[in-house]
Amino acid sequence: MDIDVFTLFPGWFDWFREQRHVANALANGHRLECVDYRATTPLSGGQVDDTPFGGGAGMVLRVDVVEAALRARYDRDPVDVRQERRVVALTPGGRLLDEPLVRELAAEPALTLLCGRYEGFDERIVEHFATEAISIGRYVLAGGELAAMVLCDTVLRKLPGALGDERSVVEESFSEALEGGPEYPHYTRPASYRGWDVPEVLLSGHHARIDAWRREESRRRGET
Ligand code: ADE
Repeated sequence: MDIDVFTLFPGWFDWFREQRHVANALANGHRLECVDYRATTPLSGGQVDDTPFGGGAGMVLRVDVVEAALRARYDRDPVDVRQERRVVALTPGGRLLDEPLVRELAAEPALTLLCGRYEGFDERIVEHFATEAISIGRYVLAGGELAAMVLCDTVLRKLPGALGDERSVVEESFSEALEGGPEYPHYTRPASYRGWDVPEVLLSGHHARIDAWRREESRRRGET
Protein backbone atom coordinates (compact mmCIF):
# COMPACT_ATOMS: atom_id res chain seq x y z
CA MET A 1 0.00 0.00 0.00
CA ASP A 2 1.28 3.37 -1.02
CA ILE A 3 -0.38 6.33 0.73
CA ASP A 4 0.25 10.00 -0.04
CA VAL A 5 -1.25 12.56 2.33
CA PHE A 6 -1.51 16.15 1.09
CA THR A 7 -1.58 18.51 4.04
CA LEU A 8 -0.56 21.90 5.42
CA PHE A 9 0.81 20.16 8.52
CA PRO A 10 3.09 17.28 7.49
CA GLY A 11 4.77 17.41 10.92
CA TRP A 12 1.59 16.08 12.55
CA PHE A 13 2.25 12.73 10.90
CA ASP A 14 5.72 12.28 12.41
CA TRP A 15 4.19 11.03 15.64
CA PHE A 16 1.70 8.88 13.77
CA ARG A 17 4.38 7.16 11.71
CA GLU A 18 6.18 6.11 14.88
CA GLN A 19 3.23 4.22 16.36
CA ARG A 20 3.81 0.49 16.48
CA HIS A 21 1.33 -0.83 13.90
CA VAL A 22 2.10 2.02 11.50
CA ALA A 23 5.86 1.55 11.96
CA ASN A 24 5.37 -2.21 11.37
CA ALA A 25 3.44 -1.57 8.17
CA LEU A 26 6.15 0.81 6.94
CA ALA A 27 8.90 -1.66 7.84
CA ASN A 28 7.02 -4.27 5.79
CA GLY A 29 7.33 -2.14 2.68
CA HIS A 30 4.13 -0.07 2.81
CA ARG A 31 4.54 3.68 2.32
CA LEU A 32 3.01 6.72 3.98
CA GLU A 33 4.34 10.03 2.73
CA CYS A 34 3.23 13.59 3.33
CA VAL A 35 3.16 16.33 0.73
CA ASP A 36 3.03 19.93 1.95
CA TYR A 37 0.67 22.11 -0.14
CA ARG A 38 2.82 25.09 0.80
CA ALA A 39 5.95 23.65 -0.83
CA THR A 40 4.53 24.11 -4.34
CA THR A 41 1.97 26.88 -3.97
CA PRO A 42 2.03 29.22 -6.99
CA LEU A 43 0.95 32.10 -4.73
CA SER A 44 3.32 34.48 -2.99
CA GLY A 45 4.14 34.31 0.69
CA GLY A 46 3.16 30.64 0.97
CA GLN A 47 -0.53 31.48 0.54
CA VAL A 48 -2.76 28.43 0.12
CA ASP A 49 -6.28 29.59 0.97
CA ASP A 50 -8.62 32.46 0.28
CA THR A 51 -11.90 34.05 1.37
CA PRO A 52 -15.08 32.37 0.08
CA PHE A 53 -16.99 33.88 -2.83
CA GLY A 54 -20.40 35.03 -1.66
CA GLY A 55 -18.98 36.00 1.72
CA GLY A 56 -18.93 34.15 4.99
CA ALA A 57 -16.47 33.31 7.70
CA GLY A 58 -13.24 31.38 7.30
CA MET A 59 -10.88 30.51 4.53
CA VAL A 60 -11.08 27.98 1.71
CA LEU A 61 -8.22 25.88 0.30
CA ARG A 62 -7.59 27.02 -3.28
CA VAL A 63 -8.00 24.76 -6.31
CA ASP A 64 -4.85 26.10 -8.03
CA VAL A 65 -2.78 25.33 -4.91
CA VAL A 66 -4.02 21.73 -4.77
CA GLU A 67 -3.48 21.31 -8.51
CA ALA A 68 0.15 22.49 -8.20
CA ALA A 69 0.81 20.04 -5.35
CA LEU A 70 -0.76 17.10 -7.22
CA ARG A 71 1.06 17.96 -10.47
CA ALA A 72 4.40 18.20 -8.69
CA ARG A 73 3.85 14.82 -7.07
CA TYR A 74 2.43 12.84 -10.01
CA ASP A 75 3.79 14.80 -12.97
CA ARG A 76 0.46 14.83 -14.78
CA ASP A 77 -2.90 16.57 -14.84
CA PRO A 78 -4.55 15.77 -11.47
CA VAL A 79 -7.80 15.09 -13.31
CA ASP A 80 -6.08 11.99 -14.75
CA VAL A 81 -4.42 10.85 -11.52
CA ARG A 82 -7.85 9.54 -10.49
CA GLN A 83 -7.62 6.83 -13.13
CA GLU A 84 -4.63 5.30 -11.36
CA ARG A 85 -5.42 5.66 -7.68
CA ARG A 86 -8.25 6.58 -5.39
CA VAL A 87 -8.02 10.23 -4.43
CA VAL A 88 -9.94 10.93 -1.24
CA ALA A 89 -10.96 14.40 -0.10
CA LEU A 90 -11.54 14.37 3.65
CA THR A 91 -14.64 16.41 4.42
CA PRO A 92 -17.26 16.25 7.18
CA GLY A 93 -20.07 15.76 4.66
CA GLY A 94 -18.46 12.87 2.74
CA ARG A 95 -19.30 9.16 2.70
CA LEU A 96 -19.06 7.88 6.26
CA LEU A 97 -16.02 5.73 6.94
CA ASP A 98 -17.22 2.34 8.15
CA GLU A 99 -15.85 -1.19 8.14
CA PRO A 100 -16.93 -2.11 4.57
CA LEU A 101 -15.34 1.08 3.24
CA VAL A 102 -12.16 0.42 5.24
CA ARG A 103 -11.94 -3.06 3.72
CA GLU A 104 -12.47 -1.61 0.26
CA LEU A 105 -9.67 0.95 0.79
CA ALA A 106 -7.31 -1.62 2.32
CA ALA A 107 -7.54 -3.63 -0.90
CA GLU A 108 -6.23 -0.70 -2.98
CA PRO A 109 -2.57 -0.62 -4.02
CA ALA A 110 -2.39 3.17 -3.59
CA LEU A 111 -4.34 5.99 -1.97
CA THR A 112 -4.09 9.76 -2.07
CA LEU A 113 -5.62 11.68 0.83
CA LEU A 114 -6.36 15.38 0.53
CA CYS A 115 -6.69 17.23 3.83
CA GLY A 116 -8.67 20.45 3.88
CA ARG A 117 -8.23 23.23 6.40
CA TYR A 118 -10.33 26.00 7.85
CA GLU A 119 -13.69 26.05 6.05
CA GLY A 120 -12.58 23.24 3.76
CA PHE A 121 -11.94 22.88 0.05
CA ASP A 122 -12.93 24.84 -2.99
CA GLU A 123 -15.61 22.44 -4.27
CA ARG A 124 -13.83 22.07 -7.63
CA ILE A 125 -11.09 20.14 -5.84
CA VAL A 126 -13.58 17.52 -4.72
CA GLU A 127 -15.37 17.49 -8.05
CA HIS A 128 -12.41 17.32 -10.43
CA PHE A 129 -9.39 16.00 -8.52
CA ALA A 130 -10.93 13.52 -6.06
CA THR A 131 -12.57 10.17 -6.72
CA GLU A 132 -14.64 10.57 -3.56
CA ALA A 133 -15.19 12.51 -0.34
CA ILE A 134 -14.94 10.64 2.96
CA SER A 135 -15.97 11.72 6.46
CA ILE A 136 -15.01 10.11 9.75
CA GLY A 137 -18.16 11.40 11.46
CA ARG A 138 -20.78 14.08 11.39
CA TYR A 139 -18.80 16.73 13.24
CA VAL A 140 -16.32 19.32 12.05
CA LEU A 141 -12.61 18.99 12.80
CA ALA A 142 -10.25 21.93 12.40
CA GLY A 143 -8.86 20.12 9.37
CA GLY A 144 -8.64 16.80 7.59
CA GLU A 145 -5.37 15.69 9.21
CA LEU A 146 -6.89 13.79 12.12
CA ALA A 147 -9.44 12.26 9.75
CA ALA A 148 -6.59 11.15 7.45
CA MET A 149 -4.83 9.56 10.43
CA VAL A 150 -7.99 7.73 11.44
CA LEU A 151 -8.37 6.43 7.90
CA CYS A 152 -4.69 5.39 7.69
CA ASP A 153 -4.82 3.79 11.13
CA THR A 154 -7.77 1.60 10.29
CA VAL A 155 -6.55 0.73 6.80
CA LEU A 156 -2.95 -0.02 7.79
CA ARG A 157 -3.93 -2.32 10.65
CA LYS A 158 -5.75 -4.48 8.08
CA LEU A 159 -2.55 -5.12 6.15
CA PRO A 160 -0.71 -8.36 6.87
CA GLY A 161 2.08 -7.92 9.43
CA ALA A 162 0.86 -4.63 10.93
CA LEU A 163 -0.57 -6.23 14.06
CA GLY A 164 1.29 -8.72 16.18
CA ASP A 165 -1.45 -11.31 15.84
CA GLU A 166 -3.32 -11.70 12.55
CA ARG A 167 -6.31 -13.16 14.36
CA SER A 168 -7.03 -9.69 15.77
CA VAL A 169 -8.51 -8.45 12.51
CA VAL A 170 -10.35 -11.66 11.66
CA GLU A 171 -12.66 -11.65 14.63
CA GLU A 172 -13.04 -8.02 15.63
CA SER A 173 -15.98 -5.65 15.70
CA PHE A 174 -17.87 -5.41 12.38
CA SER A 175 -15.89 -8.28 10.83
CA GLU A 176 -17.48 -10.94 8.64
CA ALA A 177 -16.67 -13.53 11.32
CA LEU A 178 -19.10 -11.65 13.58
CA GLU A 179 -21.57 -11.05 10.76
CA GLY A 180 -20.86 -7.32 10.84
CA GLY A 181 -21.76 -7.04 14.53
CA PRO A 182 -19.77 -5.47 17.37
CA GLU A 183 -17.21 -7.54 19.18
CA TYR A 184 -18.01 -9.66 22.25
CA PRO A 185 -16.65 -8.57 25.65
CA HIS A 186 -13.11 -9.49 26.69
CA TYR A 187 -11.77 -10.30 30.14
CA THR A 188 -8.34 -11.04 31.54
CA ARG A 189 -6.81 -11.79 34.96
CA PRO A 190 -7.79 -11.52 37.75
CA ALA A 191 -10.81 -13.79 37.29
CA SER A 192 -12.49 -12.12 40.23
CA TYR A 193 -11.99 -8.48 41.15
CA ARG A 194 -13.92 -6.66 43.86
CA GLY A 195 -16.56 -9.34 43.49
CA TRP A 196 -16.87 -8.74 39.74
CA ASP A 197 -16.50 -12.19 38.27
CA VAL A 198 -15.51 -13.14 34.75
CA PRO A 199 -18.33 -15.12 33.09
CA GLU A 200 -17.88 -18.74 34.10
CA VAL A 201 -18.03 -20.05 30.55
CA LEU A 202 -14.76 -18.27 29.66
CA LEU A 203 -12.93 -20.21 32.37
CA SER A 204 -14.44 -23.53 31.32
CA GLY A 205 -11.88 -24.36 28.61
CA HIS A 206 -14.83 -25.58 26.52
CA HIS A 207 -14.14 -23.97 23.15
CA ALA A 208 -17.47 -24.68 21.49
CA ARG A 209 -19.36 -23.20 24.45
CA ILE A 210 -17.05 -20.18 24.55
CA ASP A 211 -17.54 -19.64 20.85
CA ALA A 212 -21.33 -19.87 21.13
CA TRP A 213 -21.31 -17.46 24.10
CA ARG A 214 -19.18 -14.93 22.23
CA ARG A 215 -21.38 -15.03 19.15
CA GLU A 216 -24.47 -14.57 21.26
CA GLU A 217 -22.90 -11.59 23.09
CA SER A 218 -21.91 -10.01 19.80
CA ARG A 219 -25.43 -10.48 18.45
CA ARG A 220 -26.98 -9.00 21.62
CA ARG A 221 -24.69 -5.96 21.50
CA GLY A 222 -25.64 -5.40 17.90
CA GLU A 223 -29.28 -5.08 18.86
CA THR A 224 -28.71 -2.01 21.03
N1 ADE B 1 -12.47 17.55 7.99
C1 ADE B 1 -13.08 18.26 8.95
N2 ADE B 1 -13.95 17.50 9.62
C2 ADE B 1 -13.90 16.24 9.08
C3 ADE B 1 -14.58 15.04 9.31
N3 ADE B 1 -15.49 14.91 10.28
N4 ADE B 1 -14.28 13.97 8.54
C4 ADE B 1 -13.36 14.09 7.56
N5 ADE B 1 -12.70 15.21 7.28
C5 ADE B 1 -12.96 16.29 8.02
